[in-house]
Amino acid sequence: MKIAICPGSFDPVTMGHLDIIQRAAKMFDHVIVAVMVNPSKRPSFTLEERIDLLTRATTDVEAAKLEIVGFDGLLADYAKQRHATAIVKGLRAVSDFEYEFQMALTNKKLNPDLETVFLTTRAENMYLSSSIVKQIAQFDGDISNFVPECIHDDIRERLCKGVKGK
Ligand code: PNS
Repeated sequence: MKIAICPGSFDPVTMGHLDIIQRAAKMFDHVIVAVMVNPSKRPSFTLEERIDLLTRATTDVEAAKLEIVGFDGLLADYAKQRHATAIVKGLRAVSDFEYEFQMALTNKKLNPDLETVFLTTRAENMYLSSSIVKQIAQFDGDISNFVPECIHDDIRERLCKGVKGK
């Protein structure tokens, strides 16, 4: 059985992440979506909240194929522990490349049996990121094109500060 991991902060999950998860589920027998800790980010949602948002946002992906977990440790170790042979990540623009390349090479060094597979993002998600979504929500903007409807309220309730003059 070919097992892949889709890792990320998912703070919160966006349409871009969902597209990559759905495509990974077509390529592998089992996909573990791992909500992880990125030490260089300060998340707006707790690990448990991010898992809950992802669970509700992925109900249309074949349940038997998909597993959503939280893990606070090294991705290379977790992959070994779960017998995963691939990490699947989305690649948006050239600006992602250097960072992703560095992580892929480091993970390969830590776990030589692990491959990193990059899927090119869909054109409509090229510019999309969790931080962009959070910024729009903070200023009471419309996030409906960027995150699934079932989690709109959670994001707005957490982040919307109200806009002066509105
Ligand atoms: O969505 P992000 O923040 O770009 O995802 C980055 C993430 C969480 C996948 C990365 O920071 C990670 O793998 N964290 C776990 C710790 C780890 O293994 N670090 C070394 C990677 S080179």
